[in-house]
Amino acid sequence: MEKILDKIYKNHKDNEGNIISLLQDIQGELGYIPEDAVAWFSKKLDIPASRFFGIATFYAQFHLQPRGKNVVTTCCGTACHVKGSEKLLNGLVRELGLPEGESTTEDRRFTVEKVNCVGACSIAPVVIVNNKVHGKMTADKLMKEIKQLKEKESED
Ligand code: FES
Repeated sequence: MEKILDKIYKNHKDNEGNIISLLQDIQGELGYIPEDAVAWFSKKLDIPASRFFGIATFYAQFHLQPRGKNVVTTCCGTACHVKGSEKLLNGLVRELGLPEGESTTEDRRFTVEKVNCVGACSIAPVVIVNNKVHGKMTADKLMKEIKQLKEKESED
């Protein structure tokens, strides 16, 4: 990890980047923002770790836990809830074998997230699979998507 952090540090210095761009680079390289990376930069730049964490927890784009290669986001806002998002979510958890309270599979291939209203209520229920928005989602369509992703994963 040290090598990667050093590379990010050099880019950061050359481009006079700010903490946000630094965190984006860390996440871009490592998939999330590990505590060790924050500690490393905190020491290197003489900036308190709390400033990094303050920013990382403020912006939804940053993740402090490892995420899966595939991210499936289920909207659980009111309109989506009424149209059965809970059922979709439960189906996902079952299909991916996620242990209670976990959002990422052990093999780090899938992360399941819940969000509140993505602003597309007219096509509820909405599920976002790897940044692609799927409206009027059904349990069957969702399982098909997941199975395709699993197949793709096993080919890689
Ligand atoms: S509640 Fe799901 S898009 Fe608005």
